[in-house]
Amino acid sequence: MISNVDILEAMTIKLDDELPKTIEFKEGIRRAPDRGFTLTKNQTQIALKNALRYIPEKYHKTLAKEFMEELRTRGRIYGYRYRPESRIYGKPINEYKGNCIEGKAFQVMIDNNLDSDIALYPYELVTYGETGQVCQNWMQYRLIMKYLEEMTENQTLVIESGHPLGLFKSKPEAPRVIITNALMVGMFDNNEDWHYAMQMGVANYGQMTAGGWMYIGPQGIVHGTFNTILNAGRQKLGVGQDEDLRGHIFVSSGLGGMSGAQPKAIEISGGVGIIAEVDYSRIQTRFKQGWVSRVSSDLKDVFDVAKEYMDKKEPISIAYHGNIVDLLQYAVENHFHIELLSDQTSCHAAYEGGYCPQGVSFDERTKLLREDRKKFNTLVDSSLRRHFEFIKILVDRGTYFFDYGNSFMKAIYDAGVKEIVKNGVDEKDGFIFPSYVEDIMGPELFDYGYGPFRWVCLSGDHKDLIKTDKAAMDCIDPNRRAQDRDNYMWIKDAEKNQLVVGTEARILYQDAMGRTNIALKFNEMVRKGEVGPIMLGRDHHDVSGTDSPFRETSNIKDGSNIMADMAIQSYAGNAARGMSLVALHNGGGVGIGKSINGGFGLVLDGSTRIDNIIKSAMPWDVMGGVARRAWARNENSISTSIEYNKMRSGEEHITLPFIPKDDLIMEVIEESFKKIKLETLKSENKEDVKLTKEEIIIKKENIKGWK
Ligand SMILES: NC(=O)c1ccc[n+]([C@@H]2O[C@H](COP(=O)([O-])OP(=O)(O)OC[C@H]3O[C@@H](n4cnc5c(N)ncnc54)[C@H](O)[C@@H]3O)[C@@H](O)[C@H]2O)c1
Repeated sequence: MISNVDILEAMTIKLDDELPKTIEFKEGIRRAPDRGFTLTKNQTQIALKNALRYIPEKYHKTLAKEFMEELRTRGRIYGYRYRPESRIYGKPINEYKGNCIEGKAFQVMIDNNLDSDIALYPYELVTYGETGQVCQNWMQYRLIMKYLEEMTENQTLVIESGHPLGLFKSKPEAPRVIITNALMVGMFDNNEDWHYAMQMGVANYGQMTAGGWMYIGPQGIVHGTFNTILNAGRQKLGVGQDEDLRGHIFVSSGLGGMSGAQPKAIEISGGVGIIAEVDYSRIQTRFKQGWVSRVSSDLKDVFDVAKEYMDKKEPISIAYHGNIVDLLQYAVENHFHIELLSDQTSCHAAYEGGYCPQGVSFDERTKLLREDRKKFNTLVDSSLRRHFEFIKILVDRGTYFFDYGNSFMKAIYDAGVKEIVKNGVDEKDGFIFPSYVEDIMGPELFDYGYGPFRWVCLSGDHKDLIKTDKAAMDCIDPNRRAQDRDNYMWIKDAEKNQLVVGTEARILYQDAMGRTNIALKFNEMVRKGEVGPIMLGRDHHDVSGTDSPFRETSNIKDGSNIMADMAIQSYAGNAARGMSLVALHNGGGVGIGKSINGGFGLVLDGSTRIDNIIKSAMPWDVMGGVARRAWARNENSISTSIEYNKMRSGEEHITLPFIPKDDLIMEVIEESFKKIKLETLKSENKEDVKLTKEEIIIKKENIKGWK
């Protein structure tokens, strides 16, 4: 029988052999709600044994009790005591220990994801999106950091749902880190089993860049939100290609991790924004950062100020401290015309606290979650139904409503509103309102290859960021397309707009060759010593990174929107081409079972090895998705792929779809369906095998559903 002494001696990389002090929770730092403890006695036994796997036996007695208490009161074992006492933030790379640059670089990224100024629930390792965690518990955090310190360029660290499985021999050209999060076997790929697996300590909800270690604060989403609102204005309000949103209004909810980007984005685009938020602490955070300009809990005041700024055509963002449903009710009752409307409550996790029901304050929500989940769920459902009713009225009055990828419409459907789905039965044919990807981001950006490319200056030196902004701007031709002009303006004003929260990072929407050229330029700058090392990455929410019919692939109409081949190919292809980190997750922004999504990180060290990786991996990372979108007959992707085939002739090649004429297809179908009906008819009336034309017509009329 193997003893715990043998195990201790068999590992050289392990947690320090001392029990950290118990934690003191600081006032004013947001805490995740109790996620609910639902395990049976037998399951609890396994869950406790699972968490104690990280801990030497001499501490088991103390920690078994402590972990049991965490599980009972928080619904998870976070191992709070193992959270470092010192402030966690992304320090300059040279302050980290390590045997290779990537090992140090990923420590910067993890610490940035857990920074108290950035993370939604810093004690619970939640970076954003209500439940998106870097890893499951603080023992894993400590162990991952140790592995990253030890890792050499000949090893790869394997992370399975937050657990560092170990360091395995590989080669410098292979990824240094491979991450998977919450990938569940199909039959168990549902919320209930995931909730069980999380409690057992075997699943981590990585969202996208939380578990993929690539979050760069709300800036990461400001650019996308700016693009979305601006293009919504162009499509629906007749705003010209070279105009901004001056005089126009956008209303939404949420000032959290991603949703907090909305007020900043509306101001950058010149418009007026009202964002409802129930949690005052989140309003304060955004106000202190200067990301929202005015705060009020008086709806009359909110709408009066909005009107004043619309009239004088000046930008302003207003945080309404209160429930979005109250705000919409006020707009309906007072006939205020909202031009653009969305929602960014965390509806992908509505019953876990992501959606605060009307009539319930934020504190009451937290209490209800702890004490009476059944009542909470009922209140969520009735609030969502009222929410939908108000939106319907506003849409009838001319508002353009779009779903912001938060599973809002799915949540409405789950709350019992059948009217929200196109076919009145289930979600297969989509919803009655468009999602922002379906109408805007898909056709205008993803189909061309534009997506949320980003970088982090690992030196922590702001001057490096300014130099990279300038270099990136020089790589863009603003006259090529409207999208290029928007991106050019974005990067030109990025410094002025003070977007950095946390590490010195930048987001810039770019297409395949834009990203490749900028990456090569940056690597050259690192080589020449003009800037320190740089981490390149992207949001999973991108052209190729995510398969989700509820969001990223909602504008895929060839039936393949229920397939996850693209995201998995993107991940595998990035690993094969040597990205420094590759990640693949279940869930993302829309919830378990509703998305497969992946991302990458690439550390620029100035070497020619990295130049070679950039040349193959960057175009692949984008064009894999463009090619799939082209195959789904998306027009802008077809034209982008035609251009690409010409440009890369002899090197790469994309298969393109022939497009048949609709009339021809309809004719063939009509003909064939008639035959099918006739055959059914004949088989049902064997004696009528030889029907005359007239008889067929008569029969047809008698058959239900015959067209
Ligand atoms: N911004 C984007 O580009 C983007 C893209 C895709 C998906 N999303 C989705 O948007 C959602 C929000 O993301 P996040 O990271 O900001 O989450 P978050 O949980 O950090 O923030 C959501 C905020 O909504 C507030 N809220 C909840 N119910 C409310 C109500 N009824 N009225 C007013 N405020 C309410 C919460 O207090 C919270 O601050 C997620 O579902 C995410 O997946 C955002």
